[in-house]
Amino acid sequence: MVALTDVPSKNLVQGRLSVQVAEIAADSTVLRCLDWDRDRFDIEFELRNGTTYNSFLLKGKKTALIDTAHAKFKDLYFRELRQQVDLRQVDYLIVNHTEPDHSGLIADVLALAPQITVVGSKVAIQFLQNQIHRPFAAQVVKSGDRLDLGLGHELAFISAPNLHWPDTILTYDSGTEVLYTCDVFGLHYCDDTLYDEIPALLEADFQLYYDCLMGPNARSVLAALKRMEPFELNQIATGHGPLLRHHVADWTGRYRIWSETQAQAESFVAIFYVGEYGFSDRIAHALGQGLLKTATAVELVDLLDTDIATVRELVTSAAGLILGMPPQSARDLGPILSTILAAAHPKQAIGLFETGGGQDEPIFPLRNRFQELGLKPAFEPILIKAAPTETTDKLCEEASTDLGQWVNRDLSQKQTQSHDSGLDQALGRLSTGLYILTARKGDVSSAMLASWVIQASIEPPGVAIAVAKDRAIESLLHGGDTFVLNVLEEGHYQRLMKHFLKRFPPGGDRFEGIATYAAANGSPILAEALAYLECTVTHRLEAGDHWVIYCTARAGRVAKPDGLTAVHHRKASNHY
Ligand code: FEO
Repeated sequence: MVALTDVPSKNLVQGRLSVQVAEIAADSTVLRCLDWDRDRFDIEFELRNGTTYNSFLLKGKKTALIDTAHAKFKDLYFRELRQQVDLRQVDYLIVNHTEPDHSGLIADVLALAPQITVVGSKVAIQFLQNQIHRPFAAQVVKSGDRLDLGLGHELAFISAPNLHWPDTILTYDSGTEVLYTCDVFGLHYCDDTLYDEIPALLEADFQLYYDCLMGPNARSVLAALKRMEPFELNQIATGHGPLLRHHVADWTGRYRIWSETQAQAESFVAIFYVGEYGFSDRIAHALGQGLLKTATAVELVDLLDTDIATVRELVTSAAGLILGMPPQSARDLGPILSTILAAAHPKQAIGLFETGGGQDEPIFPLRNRFQELGLKPAFEPILIKAAPTETTDKLCEEASTDLGQWVNRDLSQKQTQSHDSGLDQALGRLSTGLYILTARKGDVSSAMLASWVIQASIEPPGVAIAVAKDRAIESLLHGGDTFVLNVLEEGHYQRLMKHFLKRFPPGGDRFEGIATYAAANGSPILAEALAYLECTVTHRLEAGDHWVIYCTARAGRVAKPDGLTAVHHRKASNHY
């Protein structure tokens, strides 16, 4: 590893966690929380070189903290932060992004410094208000907004939704020309070298990070790059890995080239919504999640933040459209609606949603207009009258997954047809049993027929199950989630198999007409199952077009001791 930075810094070490502190520009200090051993990051990718969580302190006449760090750094971080500033003197906490690796200490900061005003996008502030159970002062910002800290440190904010969460903003200090980007332009690379002195050491991790987090939203990356253009960049202060100073144009150029390539190659769905009103941004983002499950690129477009020419271009080139009905009060959006209707074309699918809404339901005449234009309705209009819940999130996700599958229908068909080789026939000779996976989480439940299931450990009892990425139940199978694996019985499985093979409408009840009772973990046990296992997800492994879900079996029971498990034989691997 390269040893050293060209800037004085110091390290506080605790085990394999350490904090590096360094002055990066006038009145600007970084606290880099170095996580040397972290070997995986959420479900996205394995980390080869650990990671860092970078937090920043700016001192003008006013003082601002930019992002915090992972909660595991609580003691180390505060010990060092207190050396830098009296927390009671901090005026702002700027939250560029709210994932826990950056926001894990926000509640602690606010407990110690309740005078702080939290600055972030509307989505970020809403998220934090739900997460932090104490009132706090908040300031919502978007592109064009500014915050003057004094002593030349005027901050400008750049909206960057979908890089890689909907909440993301970038913060630019015009006094130092430093752009604070949190996840954007980051990489998971832990080293006490502060800057990008030797790109060759970093570029593989930089690209892997882009591919995993930013690539799926290439159009949003291009939009953010465009918004960054007016700003002269002296350095990019990322939230992960080294700060970028020596090769700024090269790193941003890579983002541009990769994103342009991706954006040209992909079909995408544009989701138009009005972020200022009701809950439409939450609905829009839930819809986006459903599309991403089908590997469909998504362009989230806040109609209040986008010009008509951009809207027209997006509508013209999108493979599918989702439109959140603007509220009656947004009369001035009439021309944009007309633009969307004029640019839409019959090769597209359309989905509509409305939040709030009165009795007049203008969404249905609009649906009729799109149908008259020849667009395929991908799902019934979604009407959200009250505050969205996990149930409505799931409904939206399932609706847009249907749209994404329609968009990708030709590709899926081609892939199926191309799989007729000897390899596929040989693979098809792998036989398995037949099972129904059932899961309940809060008010949300789901189920699917599964055949790619295998015992994977004796002690502790473990099972591995392959679940296609676009399955509705997939979102209920993350680390710590619980479910029931119902084993079907030879000679008595047809009814259940037929039922769970049906295509359910978004949000549809999978268990209507099926006898069930609740397992200790809350998920439904099928009364007709031969046996069942109560499972807890411990790992997820990305495996091509499936997730391999590894779980520990906590309990189980056989209903008929003499019964045999239904066996599933196939002749080719291109179907279940
Ligand atoms: Fe580094 Fe999306 O959190």
